[in-house]
Amino acid sequence: MSGADRRPPVRFPRDPAVSWAMPPPLALASHEGRAPGKVILVGEHAVVYGYRAIAASVDLFTTVSLHDRPGRSEVEDTDIWDARLGDALATIIPAEGVGVSISSELPTGCGMGSSAALAVAAVRAAARREGRTASFEECFERGMAIERVFHGNPSGLDHTVSALGCPVIFRRGERAVPLRLAAPIRLVVANTGTPGDTAAMVDLVKARKPEAELLRLGALTEMVAARLALGHPVGPFLHEAHWLLRRIGVSTRELDELCRAMEAAGAEGAKLAGAGGGGIVIAQVTPATEDAVRRAASRQVDDRVYTVSIGG
Ligand code: MEV
Repeated sequence: MSGADRRPPVRFPRDPAVSWAMPPPLALASHEGRAPGKVILVGEHAVVYGYRAIAASVDLFTTVSLHDRPGRSEVEDTDIWDARLGDALATIIPAEGVGVSISSELPTGCGMGSSAALAVAAVRAAARREGRTASFEECFERGMAIERVFHGNPSGLDHTVSALGCPVIFRRGERAVPLRLAAPIRLVVANTGTPGDTAAMVDLVKARKPEAELLRLGALTEMVAARLALGHPVGPFLHEAHWLLRRIGVSTRELDELCRAMEAAGAEGAKLAGAGGGGIVIAQVTPATEDAVRRAASRQVDDRVYTVSIGG
């Protein structure tokens, strides 16, 4: 008789106290991929037109687990609810024989890169299932197929950052360059809870063709990159970026008010981050201003406030 056979009878899940007794052979082999979300510091929308943008990964992750199952592939368990999920995963996962579980710490549709993290995590999990580790190139190429399902014609910035997992300066069509910061910066991130639609916002900007604003946003990215390399604050540049994004039509009253409130509470500069139309505001803070800025944000968005460190 084997050791497993001598274990007490398994009554899981009725009696959690004995759930440890589940015999190991019943556990399904699963293959996992994990990837972080992101925030865009500066350059969103302009990056679609060939200007550079700066973004960084954040310590909130999505994990995709794959295991074998009979019959058609299916998402069995997910924290991400989106009508496009099945089509997106079908670009990576075979139609037959795979069970998918998705767990995510990232709020969806708010500019924190939940679809990009899903894309990279799915590519990594699929490679693991084949006994490999996905390279950056594979995450970029195959991840782009998922991002296209969600966002139409994305620049590739979001899933590049997710795949590299560090601050990045990115120009569409070029290899992304990891960005060195002389000193980490701290951001308070406030999520309005109102989802934005990236594809719709990108289309709106395309229809308006705001060339002067896009040119200036591109210039702000270059200035922010230079200042980060020297360890200088970038708040005033974030402030200007927000009001340029408002001029091109992708901000909302809620986002503007959040920026004003966080700056009034001491943030060095605040802006919407991501495609806009909803989503998040980021604000640069110091140890002296962080608590007050968090409190000001909480008054408007309850507990949907995070603090992230970039370049630390
Ligand atoms: C979305 O996170 C960023 C945008 O610049 C679109 C893109 O880069 O594909 C608005």
